[in-house]
Amino acid sequence: MVSKKSDKTPASPTAAPQHALHSYLDPQHLGPWGIYLQQIDRVTPYLGSLARWVETLKRPKRALIVDVPIELDNGTIAHFEGYRVQHNTSRGPGKGGVRFHQDVTLSEVMALSAWMSIKNAAVNVPYGGAKGGIRVDPRLLSAKELERLTRRYTSEIGIIIGPTKDIPAPDVNTNEKVMAWMMDTYSMNVGETATGVVTGKPVDVGGSLGRREATGRGVFTIACEAAHHIGLSIEGARVAVQGFGNVGGTAGKLFAEAGALVVAVQDHTGAIANDKGLNVPKLQEHVAKTGGVAGFKGGEAIKPADFWAAKCDIMIPAALEGQVTKDNAGKIKAKMLIEGANGPTTPEADDILHDKGVLVVPDVIANAGGVTVSYFEWVQDFSSFFWSEAEINARLAKIMKEAFAAIWHTAQQHQVSLRTATFIVACTRILHARDLRGLYP
Ligand SMILES: NC(=O)c1ccc[n+]([C@@H]2O[C@H](COP(=O)([O-])OP(=O)(O)OC[C@H]3O[C@@H](n4cnc5c(N)ncnc54)[C@H](O)[C@@H]3O)[C@@H](O)[C@H]2O)c1
Repeated sequence: MVSKKSDKTPASPTAAPQHALHSYLDPQHLGPWGIYLQQIDRVTPYLGSLARWVETLKRPKRALIVDVPIELDNGTIAHFEGYRVQHNTSRGPGKGGVRFHQDVTLSEVMALSAWMSIKNAAVNVPYGGAKGGIRVDPRLLSAKELERLTRRYTSEIGIIIGPTKDIPAPDVNTNEKVMAWMMDTYSMNVGETATGVVTGKPVDVGGSLGRREATGRGVFTIACEAAHHIGLSIEGARVAVQGFGNVGGTAGKLFAEAGALVVAVQDHTGAIANDKGLNVPKLQEHVAKTGGVAGFKGGEAIKPADFWAAKCDIMIPAALEGQVTKDNAGKIKAKMLIEGANGPTTPEADDILHDKGVLVVPDVIANAGGVTVSYFEWVQDFSSFFWSEAEINARLAKIMKEAFAAIWHTAQQHQVSLRTATFIVACTRILHARDLRGLYP
């Protein structure tokens, strides 16, 4: 039966209803995406006429959720939840890592993809932001199961990734080996060897020299720039590092080589300290052999909670998210906190550190060295012409220093934190690209 009621008058385009939040998110539990939204609200007043486009930053362009079924070694079938989110592609293809972790959620992958948009724009590499993940504890899988999981996931997200569309890379619990499987699976599906589909690959299949150390090297470069601005000499500076893996271990090594004293290190196995400076190469050997810093003879064991009170000039959280909290931020004695990890400082801790006068250099610039050398890897893959490690390190240092200088200038100009300054620089670049391109159709 046809309704006798007349249709509602269509709303005028300017009054079109617009939902503030996606139906697939729980407004009471926004998780990391909620933190990202607060950061965007904080930067909006500084965007001038580009603020007209700001909603685009609050909505991922594309979020793909996939089922990843695999046959386990015991013959049973297991299903895992996988994601690939492309937050923004205004400045170029999506770019961002793939995380295998039991706690991965859509909100987390959305936030990490958005932070990649910010990071890539902050160092001015021609990428948008993306991220992926599988909700799985990879330690519970055999090597063969992990390979099957990686290959099926790659095949499922293969409809949206590609060397000119979206280029994954390693993140927590994924590595060169996983990238080699991803590259091979994608290549088999498209019928040609497509080395440029992922970065962070082994050097023998199109990887780049210097990629493994790039994030730690970038952390060190940015710390030197920041130290210079506050009149702190790296030689003789006291450094404390949380997390002694790829990022923290490399950064610690470079600080020690530059004459700094690495006085405290904490990881998932415990914490150690040495007032005269730990022997970093020996500590790296110990970690490679035993899996963690606990039991290292060249330092005294301290309680993990006491790590935060270490007498130091520079503190580098380089482990997980949410480590610097309102409960430990008050104890921190450092003059600078350089975020090697993604999202290590909670917003409350950020405010406490700000009030104490600690200079916080945010993840979106401090750990951008990894994606910068990933960009070099992608360029080398396209041109099939590979650079020397010295050339890569020199180009990395140039990009990081220029990016930091622009952010420092913006922070001074607007009298804002380095985090907000990085967001101002990055969001302006992203929205300017959006403005130039206009809306299709
Ligand atoms: N590897 C990269 O290129 C890269 C790039 C950008 C950002 N990041 C970020 O840097 C961080 C570290 O990554 P990584 O590649 O060095 O990982 P990794 O696996 O090599 O090292 C992680 C370190 O964190 C420590 N850790 C884990 N749980 C801990 C806990 N509860 N308390 C204290 N320490 C703990 C581990 O013991 C290990 O030393 C992550 O947040 C990652 O997203 C990494």
